[in-house]
Amino acid sequence: MIDRTTVDRIYAAANIVEVVNDFVTLRKKGVNYQACCPFHNEKTPSFVVSPSKGVFKCFGCGKGGNAVTFVMEHENMAYHEALKYVAHKYGIEVREREMTPEDKKQNDDRESMMVVGSFAADFFRDTLHNTSEGQNVGLGYFRERGIADTMIERFGLGFCPAAGDALSKAALTAGYREEFLVRTGLSIKRDTGTLYDRFAGRVIFPIHGVSGRVIAFGGRTLRTDKKVAKYVNSPESEIYHKSNILYGLYQAKRAISQHDCCILVEGYTDVISMHQSGIEHVVASSGTSLTTEQVKLIGRFTKNVTVIYDGDPAGIKASLRGIDMILKEGLNVRVVLLPDGADPDSFANTRSASQLQDYITENEQDFISFKAKLLLADAQNDPLKRAALITDVVESIAVIPEAIPRSVYIRECARLLSVDEGLLQQEVRRKRRDTRFSDEEREFIRKREILDHASSVPALPVGPPIEGYGSSVEGLEREIVTYLLRYGRQKVDFSEPDERPAEGEEPHPPTVAQAIIEDLQADGLILTRSVYGPIYTEYLAAYAENPGCDTDDQFPMNRFTDHPDPAVCNAVVDMMMRGETLRASKLWERNDIVVYSEADNLAIAVPRAVTLYKTKIIERMIEELRARLIGIEFGPAVAEIMRKIDLLNETRRKISTRYSRIQL
Ligand code: CTP
Ligand code: MN
Repeated sequence: MIDRTTVDRIYAAANIVEVVNDFVTLRKKGVNYQACCPFHNEKTPSFVVSPSKGVFKCFGCGKGGNAVTFVMEHENMAYHEALKYVAHKYGIEVREREMTPEDKKQNDDRESMMVVGSFAADFFRDTLHNTSEGQNVGLGYFRERGIADTMIERFGLGFCPAAGDALSKAALTAGYREEFLVRTGLSIKRDTGTLYDRFAGRVIFPIHGVSGRVIAFGGRTLRTDKKVAKYVNSPESEIYHKSNILYGLYQAKRAISQHDCCILVEGYTDVISMHQSGIEHVVASSGTSLTTEQVKLIGRFTKNVTVIYDGDPAGIKASLRGIDMILKEGLNVRVVLLPDGADPDSFANTRSASQLQDYITENEQDFISFKAKLLLADAQNDPLKRAALITDVVESIAVIPEAIPRSVYIRECARLLSVDEGLLQQEVRRKRRDTRFSDEEREFIRKREILDHASSVPALPVGPPIEGYGSSVEGLEREIVTYLLRYGRQKVDFSEPDERPAEGEEPHPPTVAQAIIEDLQADGLILTRSVYGPIYTEYLAAYAENPGCDTDDQFPMNRFTDHPDPAVCNAVVDMMMRGETLRASKLWERNDIVVYSEADNLAIAVPRAVTLYKTKIIERMIEELRARLIGIEFGPAVAEIMRKIDLLNETRRKISTRYSRIQL
């Protein structure tokens, strides 16, 4: 933990132009700087750095943030790593939060394990290249398998002498402690008290954490007899949690971001051969089925996953259910089937980068259609199997969190399976409802919080005033926060025609922030969704400390762009810098005059957004109450719920009246 004071000092010192310039050549353009965006491919520059705001923004791909989040994105670093990087650049000493003695011991132990791991990696590599055993046996094996020296280097491959205790001895001689050799699993202690090497006589595949440190090893035997395990891996330890690690991610992460896609294969050699063929956005689950943590890890870099299968139908079927988990995390999954008998390793070995890429592009298909087709081929005309197949496909579709891709899949699968789309939709909905009331959700209801599910209440007919927001609760929160950030300090006359001051009276227009905050507070509402909750809370605090502030210069905007949560920083920059402008349209005709000025648009857009937001909240509450009516017997509880619904409906009507007045 880096303490808040240090974080503030780092932000204060960071000059966005200097930081970005270390990675991208910037050209001055007016008050800003420009370059071709490092996050996507482009020929004309749309990447802008604003020194005065201390932020960057790409108007092509949408990425934006501050100096620290730039380093995070560009170098794929964790937040505190990026902070340390910037601190180092500006000579700021990073003081981490005081650790308890237990924290310290655990940290020291982990560090000792890492250090002995790094010693072992060096030892294995050195053995491979500089001993005759390593050269003849290990290097000979890699060469025979067609692994190039550049790949041996990139993946840090090595060899462990067959002698039995060579590594253990070398490590002890070099002063490493037995305890950590054993805890990392590099050495195993015999009953007699002597150590032997877990990986003796094996070629070594080091496993790196995301930041590039060696945390574990895989060792492959060179013997062909079936009695010895082909691979031996480091055991679970304080530094190696198999389920959180993807082999090759460290080497692949840059390419994954660039391609906005991650290819998933099974093993060490698959990853290496694909790299050698020029496809670098590839990682392996190392033979086990994928875990949620691994999927989340991929999700940090891209939302698109392509799974490569070797053409073994039994293996494929066994893994189908595991893929639902990738869908559940909201990632898009495609699959590529290799020809019979090929695995990614052998397939890549015989093809050039472009042949490989072409094969992938031509044979990629979305997972759900793939699954439907696969099962369909199996079911043929067996009606029972067909019914089971539909249930199965429904289960996969139902886990997808977003409504739009869900409905796309429903349509596609209805076509593939020749079943009625409406029926399929109904099944998916039922399945989602089945699993909907988790314990956590019941708790939600108990606390009378608002459910987040799509509203069945028809939306009010309205065009969004800022393009691209939509009128979901989250979209409206975003819209309101955007007004706060961009125009919060601007004074705007929100009065409606019949409440304007008489001639000669001083108008006292409030600021946009005042209007929004007072309006929401009057109904006891605060914004809570996604990053908008923290931004709104921060804004409330800043607003309370700077009452009546109506100039941007005096308002602490850096509290948002330099917020401790990097996701907040990035969202803030996005909202502040996006090229969206308020648009004048028919809706904006006021007193028969089309209004074009920003302030005039704000006079309508702000109350409109807040009012619509309230309507949506009430609709959710009504929905939630209705849901509670399902399946309970008529009695006092029902009457009470009905009474509440009536009450809410009344409020809703009032708000709608106000709302339609705003629109006029
Ligand atoms: N694996 C493992 N332990 C095993 C077998 C397999 O950890 N006993 C993991 C390894 O990461 C391996 C992957 O599962 O790379 C896939 O297994 P397999 O297909 O058997 O190995 P390959 O990668 O094809 O290895 P090789 O080509 O050297 O046979
Ligand atoms: Mn293989």
